[in-house]
Amino acid sequence: MAIPQSFIQQLLMRCEIEDVISNYVVLKREGRNRKALCPFHSEKTPSMVIYPDTQSFYCFGCGTGGDVITFVMKAENLGYVEAIRLLAERVGMTVPDEAYDDKTSALKMKILEINRTAARFYHNCLKSAQGKPALYYLKNRQLENRMIVKYGLGYAPEGWNHLLNHLKEKGYTLSQMEAANVIVKGRNGSYYDFFRNRVIFPVIDLRGNVIAFGGRVLDDSKPKYLNTSDTLVFKKSRNLFSMNFAKNAAQKQLVLAEGYMDVIAIHAAGFENVVATLGTSLTNEQARLISKYTKEVVIAYDSDGAGRSATHRAINLLSEVSVAVKTLNMEGAKDPDEYIKKFGAKRFSLLLDGASNVIEFELNQLKNTFDTQTTDGKLEYIRRAVQVISSVQNRLEREVYAGIAAKQAGVACESILSQADVMMRRKRKSEEKKQWEDIQSNRKILLDKVNPQKGEFLKEALAEEGIIAFLFRNPDYGDYILSAIQPEDFVTTFNKRVFQTIVDKLKEHSEIHLTFLTPLFTPEENSRISQILATSGDQAQTKELLDDYIDVLKVHKESLKAKDISTMDLDEIEKFRQSRRKKG
Ligand code: UTP
Ligand code: MN
Repeated sequence: MAIPQSFIQQLLMRCEIEDVISNYVVLKREGRNRKALCPFHSEKTPSMVIYPDTQSFYCFGCGTGGDVITFVMKAENLGYVEAIRLLAERVGMTVPDEAYDDKTSALKMKILEINRTAARFYHNCLKSAQGKPALYYLKNRQLENRMIVKYGLGYAPEGWNHLLNHLKEKGYTLSQMEAANVIVKGRNGSYYDFFRNRVIFPVIDLRGNVIAFGGRVLDDSKPKYLNTSDTLVFKKSRNLFSMNFAKNAAQKQLVLAEGYMDVIAIHAAGFENVVATLGTSLTNEQARLISKYTKEVVIAYDSDGAGRSATHRAINLLSEVSVAVKTLNMEGAKDPDEYIKKFGAKRFSLLLDGASNVIEFELNQLKNTFDTQTTDGKLEYIRRAVQVISSVQNRLEREVYAGIAAKQAGVACESILSQADVMMRRKRKSEEKKQWEDIQSNRKILLDKVNPQKGEFLKEALAEEGIIAFLFRNPDYGDYILSAIQPEDFVTTFNKRVFQTIVDKLKEHSEIHLTFLTPLFTPEENSRISQILATSGDQAQTKELLDDYIDVLKVHKESLKAKDISTMDLDEIEKFRQSRRKKG
């Protein structure tokens, strides 16, 4: 680690954890601390707590925790040095030069260069003689030239190593190309181009970097699309195709399509506010990203069975992040691309404007499915409608939909509304219960992995954690604690190591900050340390409590001596018993 500690110290003084985290999530005050919806897992009730006094955070839901740097690393998908660089940039500090030789960030730069070079290569191929079949294919699909240029589409030529040789000439190594996933290693150990004889769709991130590619075959062979696997600069689950264009046009609404071609067709029809996932179904990370840019999403998935179930999934994920959802009813076409070709951009825009609201959409579907003229049909309609309406969180909105359903079924609004209310409450309860159970099991797993001895020595481990947290907050008590208890006296190995590390750091600095511990522990271990600081922070930090903790460890130490009881005579045994009784 080339960044001097003095620099990090200065940086931390300017980066209050509350301020930094508040750029990502909304904080709620709770006593001395702040609470927020955790950005690292999906949840409806906040379980992430930010502790200004230790400058740390901890999520009781998913067990993620750490300091301000850890937070930025996770939130921005960055390495340690890069996170520091980003924080420094935000507060107007410059990281000293020697830090720039950080290995991963150097490789990331290389991958981005390789991607850009590859994108240019593919694009030139499309325009050259060998790209004729691909260009013909695109024209055949009515893709205009301006779209080809705007999206930087390309062609990966037939053959095993066109790109590989091109990149070699430019001075890139095979391992760098492999890290970018533009070449892959065959069974016989030799490398070859990942994309061959495919139309290429570059994926551009919000800063304009080429981070990945999608490649489509020109015929009906399989697989239809290949996508870059995750690399140091690309995580599929966090990126969306065309977000670089859509982000500036998405204030009112954002269209979510299924694939590359749909996005380009919709964009060409005049709607820049369109994105697609990259060969996977929508993830909660993508839903959160979307929620940063828009309040409303129009889902324009294929109108087949797969599209329908993907729509339901997307509706759930997007409602969790409070984004309103509408669906498109593209009767007469299998997807937006086809719809626009068949009926034209004008009609598509009308469709978008009138995109039916999801709840209304589902109520209408029910109305068409059940015959409300018959008693059975009416009852079934009401039962299903109540279910649909109960998924609406806002009471007033529930009332509006209950009104619509009541009219469709020919009953009183009030009865549907009250049933929906009851069902919503029941659902919420069972969700909360499930969330709590998840938290519990999550905790257990974390517990076992990081400190496997805690189950066996629960009392001692809790005392150790109390001591660690106390020392962390009151470094001036270091001598006092060490005069009573030594690291060797800690029972669980993990806590012993944490305590020892803090003691060592105190000897160096006399001041302690999580950041200086971070590089010495694994991410799971760091989360645990934050948890220790978090949970113990809830109790009053008194010296009496500290003494109690120390006593627990002393008693344990003596009980260990009792293992040698076989060598004691009766007098000694009695003395030992008495001393235990006093303490215990
Ligand atoms: P579709 O099969 O609906 O393709 O898959 P499409 O977008 O309509 O493509 P065209 O119009 O036939 O060219 C939708 C999306 O699913 C991913 C791609 O992102 C695609 O755009 N996909 C599909 C893959 O990643 N791999 C595949 O083999 C197929
Ligand atoms: Mn499709």
